[in-house]
Amino acid sequence: MTKSPKIAVIYYSMYGHIKQMAHAAVEGIKEQGGTPTLLQFAETLPGEVLAKMHAPAKDENVPVVKPADLTEYDAFVFAFPTRYGRAVAQVSALFDATGQLWATQALNGKMATIIVSTATQHGGQETTVLTTIPYLAHQGMSMFNKQPSSLTSPPGIIYVPVGYKNQDIMNMTEILGGSPYGAATLAAGDGSRQPSELEIKGAKFHGMHFSEIVSKYIS
Ligand SMILES: Cc1cc2nc3c(=O)[nH]c(=O)nc-3n(C[C@H](O)[C@H](O)[C@H](O)COP(=O)(O)O)c2cc1C
Repeated sequence: MTKSPKIAVIYYSMYGHIKQMAHAAVEGIKEQGGTPTLLQFAETLPGEVLAKMHAPAKDENVPVVKPADLTEYDAFVFAFPTRYGRAVAQVSALFDATGQLWATQALNGKMATIIVSTATQHGGQETTVLTTIPYLAHQGMSMFNKQPSSLTSPPGIIYVPVGYKNQDIMNMTEILGGSPYGAATLAAGDGSRQPSELEIKGAKFHGMHFSEIVSKYIS
């Protein structure tokens, strides 16, 4: 019998594109039988900078994640926009605060997947995922281990891609975010483009697929 996985969908969204994708992933997880919890990465930019960037207020109904919260879940959907081809600093700020979890291997053996947003088609959707994977791999080892790890020890946080299981990423008839690494959307340089129907469907599919894989793994 498969268990219902506890999955935290943790997002950072300055202009709302990723927020929509995160909500779609939550829907997908629910539909598959998983138990999602929607959380936000903490903001690190000062109010005056956010005002200059014309960033709307954050959704106060979505709790801000704290490092210790991560231990409560089987798996994580991390959803965030690209900055200069890699993750926003707000994501690194959370990761950098997990040293104690690393030292105690508290996240070792959990699973993760990533949803991204870029302004442009070639602005770094894949590099953003790839440059985040080192964080997941580094959770797999602790220098404070008294015993050497056995071959059956979990290998860090395990990244779950979507592959070509969502066949819409083969679609060449319209502009579309997403890759074998996971669902994605395109915001346009001025943020005017909203996630398309297929991208929202892709994020929902990503959530369903991830929940299915996690439930098999934890059962
Ligand atoms: C400082 C900065 C750097 C950015 N770097 C990139 C980039 O390298 N490639 C790209 O396509 N978009 C880039 N963008 C655009 C963001 O990725 C875009 O605003 C975001 O995907 C929108 O998602 P959101 O509405 O959820 O915040 C950048 C935006 C900012 C503010």
